[in-house]
Amino acid sequence: MTEFISIRDCAKHVDEEVKMHVWLTDKRSSGKIIFLQLRDGTAFFQGVVRKNDVSEEAFAAAKSLHQEASMIVTGTVHKDERSKFGFELQVSNLEVISNREGYPIGNKEHGIDFLLDHRHLWLRSRRPFAIMQIRNTLFKATVDFFEKEGFVKFDAPIFMHSAPEGTTELFHTEYFDHDAYLSQSGQLYGEVGAEAFGKIFTFGPTFRAEPSKTRRHLTEFWMMEPEMAWMHQDESLDLQERFLAYITKQVLDKNQYELSLLGRDPEKLRPTTEGNFVRLDYGEAVKMLQEDGRDFKWGDDFGAPDEAFISEQFDRPFFIVNYPTSIKPFYMKKNPENPKTYLCADVLAPEGYGEIMGGSERESDYDILKQQIEEAGLTMSDYDWYLDLRRYGSVPHSGFGMGFERVIAWICKLDHVREAIPFPRMMNRLEP
Ligand code: 4AD
Ligand code: MG
Repeated sequence: MTEFISIRDCAKHVDEEVKMHVWLTDKRSSGKIIFLQLRDGTAFFQGVVRKNDVSEEAFAAAKSLHQEASMIVTGTVHKDERSKFGFELQVSNLEVISNREGYPIGNKEHGIDFLLDHRHLWLRSRRPFAIMQIRNTLFKATVDFFEKEGFVKFDAPIFMHSAPEGTTELFHTEYFDHDAYLSQSGQLYGEVGAEAFGKIFTFGPTFRAEPSKTRRHLTEFWMMEPEMAWMHQDESLDLQERFLAYITKQVLDKNQYELSLLGRDPEKLRPTTEGNFVRLDYGEAVKMLQEDGRDFKWGDDFGAPDEAFISEQFDRPFFIVNYPTSIKPFYMKKNPENPKTYLCADVLAPEGYGEIMGGSERESDYDILKQQIEEAGLTMSDYDWYLDLRRYGSVPHSGFGMGFERVIAWICKLDHVREAIPFPRMMNRLEP
């Protein structure tokens, strides 16, 4: 019996007869020959139907196919040097499963709003396909990396009783007869995990009521947050560097085809796999902006254009370390060499992408942390359980958070993070 294979496995079946479950993305015919552009979720390639090689019914069926028709095709795999994919199928038979006219996404240019309104269908196209395959590689690479490093995957809750990093940007919801919020970060729960399991990472959706319409903000995005007991900030930076080098290498190893569909030059990602990320002091970054003639003072927070300017000067991700305490959250540990700054770092991606990760060493002293909660004007009783982590068996610990869509946007060189997630949620978009 002829074996069913996926398009991605063509290389293992050259000159063999195979069957495939496919959809039609496009069709072109010239008399006695019909070219079918096919996809099956693993890749895109061409099926060729020659009038002389198939039954009359099969040829008629091929001729009548509409875009996104689903079918089972039988044929022989051939090498095809001219195509990006490298193989094509000489079709010997096809069985049509569904074939309806009127698929709304054609091969002409569509506006982004039209495409996002049809996201449930648009995801079948080449570009979203390539991005989601790379997203999948990055997800698996992340899990593999932390597994190898001895971390435990630890899940933080999404319903929150209080607002760990302040109430701005929080989604409020009703929770029976209480108020609740959707999680903006799993970090404080990650710290619980670190004291229970040593090294953990959380990975799940987080929510921020960002009223901004920028290229870098979603209201629902995925964050991966490692937290490491007994680890100081410098070692955390080493870990972050190894992590980004590893996941980027995985994309280069596994997704050359997808990068080529996106027109993304893989060589731009190569330096990242070498590590050696610059650790730029916040003060030096301020100087870079001032030397460029920008109106920026020590203590200001970087805006997107500032980050873009700095990040264009690098060929791989880099750290900006030791930000002023006034622009970072209360749980960070003060820098003993300059208590106006924290032992913290953001990672900025090159090519103008800006911040993709942020983290710090955490304050592990009960009294200092309590004071920092007070100074931040937060409600002490909300943090009673969190303070228990400092009451009992407190240890130095560090962690960071990766914005998954931000990393994908940089790796794939997207203009906007909305393309990095299957169903983007933004201020003006909640459907489909
Ligand atoms: O810098 P943030 O706010 O840091 C935290 O939430 C810490 N609790 C992380 C930690 O130390 N465990 O967010 C972390 C990352 C940012 O660097 C950015 O990449 C991403 O999350 N991010 C967003 N991504 C998409 N849309 C948004 N609205 C985002 N806000 C933050
Ligand atoms: Mg940040």
